[in-house]
Amino acid sequence: MATTMTFRRLVTPIVPALAVLGFFVWFSNWIPQTRWEPPRARAISAQMTPADLARIGTNLVRERGCLACHTIEPNAGVKGQGRGPNLAGIAARRAKGVPGGPSDLVTYLAQSLYEPGAYLVEGYANIMPASHRPPAKLTYEEVTAVVDYLMSLGGAPTVKIGDLARPSAEAARAPAGAATPAPASAADASAVLEKYNCLTCHALKAGEDRPGPPFVPATMRESAAARGLSLDLYLIESIVQPRAFVRGDFPADLMPDDYGAQITAGELHTIVTYLSSPERKQ
Ligand code: HEC
Ligand code: HEC
Repeated sequence: MATTMTFRRLVTPIVPALAVLGFFVWFSNWIPQTRWEPPRARAISAQMTPADLARIGTNLVRERGCLACHTIEPNAGVKGQGRGPNLAGIAARRAKGVPGGPSDLVTYLAQSLYEPGAYLVEGYANIMPASHRPPAKLTYEEVTAVVDYLMSLGGAPTVKIGDLARPSAEAARAPAGAATPAPASAADASAVLEKYNCLTCHALKAGEDRPGPPFVPATMRESAAARGLSLDLYLIESIVQPRAFVRGDFPADLMPDDYGAQITAGELHTIVTYLSSPERKQ
């Protein structure tokens, strides 16, 4: 009996210490793969085959935030579950381009990356940021790799570096239409936040006691960095898939996880541009 007690006394403090140690081992192994890295030059060379480029494109689509809005789920229909169309099978679906727009797959894919607003897929709003601008910031070579990857979804990759038209100076400077619209006004954003009861759990400023974290730009940036995403993409993910990343200091299962199915693309855009706007300092 006495020995068991001593043993327990010795062991009890060790267990949490081991758990903490285990966490750090896990954490330090996990960080390098998922940390957001500012878009960097990848080893893409002009000699690469379309198949090699498609493999690089697979990673780019994951790393640069496309999956915050798109799903790639075979047999889930064009709509899928995302804020943007399901990209599975896109090469087959768009083999002849789109009505009133480019009439071949490659030109259409390049246009949908450089000027997403030029042709809007039916049923969706103009919320996709042009891929050569923040947050994805794809270079010309990376756009080529992503086009090859998209071609492999229901078809075969064929483009090599140099095959795609480079974006016109105009498109590079300012993408068409509202592809990068001005931040939403505070009034519009408040109306949306109220409509979905966001403000019952979140305050717009620090210092008010609510069940969820206040929308303070500095701490949201910290969460975004911990998650390895830019602030915009982190906000989109937090709203559409709140379980994907949980801040340790707030309850995990409280935020409804079905906003993705209710909020319209325009409303999502209003909330995200407002919460991330640089003017919202406080
Ligand atoms: C903020 C959400 C969002 C992000 C991030 C986003 N997209 Fe989109 N995307 C959309 C929406 C919404 C549409 C449909 C409206 C349109 O055509 O612009 C779309 C359309 C597309 C299309 C045309 C689909 C079709 O069926 O014709 C392609 C291709 C595409 N996106 C690829 C990408 C890639 C690659 C990335 C990452 C570099 C990306 N998107 C990032 C929301 C997004
Ligand atoms: C019932 C309470 C509740 C409601 C309603 C709710 N949230 Fe949350 N939300 C939380 C909690 C709790 C967290 C922190 C835990 C987590 O990370 O999931 C959170 C996390 C977040 C984060 C991440 C914040 C950070 O600092 O990292 C964002 C952004 C967010 N919510 C936006 C919204 C928006 C926008 C709405 C309305 C469309 C909303 N929430 C509605 C409870 C709620």
